[in-house]
Amino acid sequence: MNWQGKWITSSKDMGDLVPAFTKSFDTDKEIHRALLYISAIGVYEASINGLPVTDQVLTPGWTAYRYRIQYQTFDVSHLVSQKNTIEVTVGKGWHKSPLMGFEKSSIQQELMAKPTALIAELHISYTDGQIEIIPTNDTWTYCESAIRFSEIYDGEVYDASFDSQKAIKEPVTTYNMTRDILVPDEGEAIKEIDHIHPSHILVTPKGEYVIDFGQEITGYVELTLSAKSGDLVELSHGEVFDKEGNFYNDNYRDAKAKLTYTCSHGVQKYKPHHTFYGFRYVRIDAFPGGPQSATLENFKGIVVHSHMERTGHLSSSNPDLNQLFDNIIWGQKGNFLDVPTDCPQRNERLGWTGDAQVFVKTAAYNYNVENFFSKWLKDLALDQKDNGQVGFVIPDVLNEGGSSAWGDAATICPWEIYLAYGDPKILEDQFESMKKWISYIKDHTTTPNLWTGTFHFGDWLGLDAPSGSYKGSSREDLIATAYYAYSTSLVIKSGRILGQDTSYYEDLYKAIVSAFRAEFTEFITQTECTLAIHFNLAKDCQAVADQLADMVIKDGIQLRTGFVGTPYILHALSSYGYTDLAYSLLLRKEYPSWIYPVTKGATTIWEHWDGIMENGDFWSRDMNSFNHYAYGAVADWVYGVAGGIKPIEAKPGYEEVSISPNPDKRLDWLKTSLNTKHGLIRSEWKKQGQSWRYEIETPVKARITIAGHNQTVLPGTYTFYSPIQ
Ligand code: BGC
Repeated sequence: MNWQGKWITSSKDMGDLVPAFTKSFDTDKEIHRALLYISAIGVYEASINGLPVTDQVLTPGWTAYRYRIQYQTFDVSHLVSQKNTIEVTVGKGWHKSPLMGFEKSSIQQELMAKPTALIAELHISYTDGQIEIIPTNDTWTYCESAIRFSEIYDGEVYDASFDSQKAIKEPVTTYNMTRDILVPDEGEAIKEIDHIHPSHILVTPKGEYVIDFGQEITGYVELTLSAKSGDLVELSHGEVFDKEGNFYNDNYRDAKAKLTYTCSHGVQKYKPHHTFYGFRYVRIDAFPGGPQSATLENFKGIVVHSHMERTGHLSSSNPDLNQLFDNIIWGQKGNFLDVPTDCPQRNERLGWTGDAQVFVKTAAYNYNVENFFSKWLKDLALDQKDNGQVGFVIPDVLNEGGSSAWGDAATICPWEIYLAYGDPKILEDQFESMKKWISYIKDHTTTPNLWTGTFHFGDWLGLDAPSGSYKGSSREDLIATAYYAYSTSLVIKSGRILGQDTSYYEDLYKAIVSAFRAEFTEFITQTECTLAIHFNLAKDCQAVADQLADMVIKDGIQLRTGFVGTPYILHALSSYGYTDLAYSLLLRKEYPSWIYPVTKGATTIWEHWDGIMENGDFWSRDMNSFNHYAYGAVADWVYGVAGGIKPIEAKPGYEEVSISPNPDKRLDWLKTSLNTKHGLIRSEWKKQGQSWRYEIETPVKARITIAGHNQTVLPGTYTFYSPIQ
């Protein structure tokens, strides 16, 4: 688009106050159509004549801001009349809120040094064919707004008693920044998707009044109340109660996550404008007449996330498992807010590449995330350093990167999206970035064909971590080399699909595999075995799988894995005859296990399985998120192995499907389904007398394996039986 609008900003520094940019104009002809093009440095909320221009929130979303900022286009024909005022508030958003408690990186300093700014153009086409454009320029004014403060981590301060009529309007100044940075929005719009009514307000032993929404969500609270001007509402957000049953949010670290609202007179409604919170509980710190005067009707929880279409469903005869499935869905909802984030509550909420990489497959079963990941991967490529280094987080606000299993998001995410949706465009778009990641490794290792000598997160949060360390005991060089091989194999596959010469990568791959085999002749942890098997690197995968099964059993049928091993361990076991053991891990209730948090009342996936320990203590204040989707990656095993629905590499996007269900006696039934662009795929099994009864529905040709017997079927619904062994 050829912008006529200019970036505009306040002519004076407004500190934390959120500016409202305004423009009044008249029209005297009949309007055919009016389109508003709009973006901001920060996050904006726009209205015309007092009515919102969209139901999207937190626009323009989060991208690699140094390279691109999205703009939105809204049809506002219904809002424009003869006398008009456009008003746009612009909060700091991700661009200008301080992110992450660490020392600010040079990238963040650069972004934060820019002023909060707006750019827009209203295009009005009249029925007589004439077109009028109202662009942002120095004829716009700005003033203070009722939003006195708004930041991503700290929350919002709003003064409803602020009289905006009396606010002094000043002329804006234009801000000289390129408009070439503006791109039409992609991904999925961020919206208020749902709302939740709180279940009760309770009084803690400390005497705090706390609202329980019954579900951890990402979003905010909407207030409805009657008050006097100047009355105060103050809310604090938290995820869990402490051991004594008191409100707790020390695990938010430096994120204040507060909401402060000064009332106007009478009945009023308010919800935050430029921020979001991750919470289940809300402590009422102040309320007109005191916290005890608050009632459930005063509060509504608004669930905010990217608007993705739900595609996958899982359910079983086991209520704990069903709660786990639910928690995985909520983990995705809570962390797919334009960018796949680690968590939505503490002072991070960043697009950690490792987390996204381990979860992408599950994400693509649960929801249609093709656009969501395509957008994020573009940012990954833009933020990738010239030497190929991939950031720890994307958008890269930390200006640090290069860890194996994190940077491999560059190859793994495009590949999984391709498999799930079948469009080679994602590979085409990302291919350079994928190759650059391989060159980065090649140029930075201290030993050719292995990856040694640089920093990695290792098997992050591995249960076999030595005391005082976040990193599991698996050797980092082994993990890094395994991913080096895997990423190279994905470059080869992608290159072949794109018709590229991949001989260089084929040679490299062979060299990595033989170096791996020469160097790592034995595997000493569950994660090491898992990677050697899952990436097909061990000389004898069956032998390593036998060893892994043995280790798991000797460990008391317990996981000892972290971020790297956990997503693959069930696959590694079930691929080599240990499906039964994989189920034992999945169904285990005691710590450490997927179900343990469920027994502790979890409504999302926790960062640590012992986020809350048996005795009620917390893991640590430092790193204890109760909404971290990564371990939810186990769902891809349930869809793909237990239910058995898998894409076929040669027919990606479910043009054909492989369905190989694997029932387990500890469950009476399991239902898995996936809505694809070709139609609904369903794989269900249940006990019927001495048999398993399978019901399979496929909209495409399917390769079905039931109890070891293969067959290919045409679209249709089928029933099969096999004896319960
Ligand atoms: C994040 C993780 C992330 C990790 C990297 C943490 O602080 O929350 O999920 O992947 O850092 O080690």
